Amino acid sequence: MKNIKMKSENLNFYYGDFKALKDINLTFPERKVTALIGPSGCGKSTYLRCFNRMNDLIKGIRVEGGIFLDDQEIHDSKLDVVELRRRVGMVFQKPNPFPKTIYENIAYAPRIHGLVSKGSEMDDLVEGSLRKAGLWEEVKDRLRSQATELSGGQQQRLCIARALAMEPEVLLMDEPASALDPIATQKIEELIYELKERLTVIIVTHNMQQAARVSDYTAFFYMGELIEVGDTSTIFTNPTVKKTEDYITGRFG
Ligand SMILES: Nc1ncnc2c1ncn2[C@@H]1O[C@H](COP(=O)(O)OP(=O)(O)OP(=O)(O)O)[C@@H](O)[C@H]1O
Ligand SMILES: [Mg+2]
Repeated sequence: MKNIKMKSENLNFYYGDFKALKDINLTFPERKVTALIGPSGCGKSTYLRCFNRMNDLIKGIRVEGGIFLDDQEIHDSKLDVVELRRRVGMVFQKPNPFPKTIYENIAYAPRIHGLVSKGSEMDDLVEGSLRKAGLWEEVKDRLRSQATELSGGQQQRLCIARALAMEPEVLLMDEPASALDPIATQKIEELIYELKERLTVIIVTHNMQQAARVSDYTAFFYMGELIEVGDTSTIFTNPTVKKTEDYITGRFG
């Protein structure tokens, strides 16, 4: 039996009167990569943001049904939302480093969360996080430079390092490579592959080849509904539903 790290049960999501997600039941096995695919506007980002309650910041939203991290419902008042976001990290489409040094980008959140107290421990955490994100060799001699001086691909790996520094159990990635060139994209994909040794990854991508390369499971969404989910190889070679096949073969979307 695979261990289920996160899941949604009968999840409905509304922006005001608009129902953006319809009765989504989906499980995310631990230490696996699950890709969410589907045409623009089908609800992928909305769904992803449900898992660390990032939608809470939007006015007029309503959530029905349950979302679980391990066996705990994430809207449970016993689960602090700050703690939830530490355990379920997020990387966005556009790299968004803080206007601070490379070092401070990593050190900032662990310091305010009191994860690390001594300076030498912080140095280790910064180095370890940058190594995990495959960025250490490129930046080790300029940790005190501004993060905004890095290339786009480096900035995105810095954002991944920043997320990893909080030692999350789950990493949500919303089109993390769509603003990057092919070489930077390849680095991110290799990194995702390594990350799943330690954590559970949920990634939104528009790139079918990328989904096929990096994910173990693929879920296809269409107009707020989950149409089909399965092993990535099955979804891409032998989907059950006609709509999935039409989408992955590029007939619409
Ligand atoms: N803040 C918001 N307020 C109202 N409606 C929203 C909001 N954000 C998204 N929506 C609507 O919810 C639906 C799903 O949007 P979402 O961003 O989740 O889609 P997506 O699958 O991520 O699309 P894309 O591939 O273009 O990023 C869309 O119809 C969108 O217009
Ligand atoms: Mg989106």
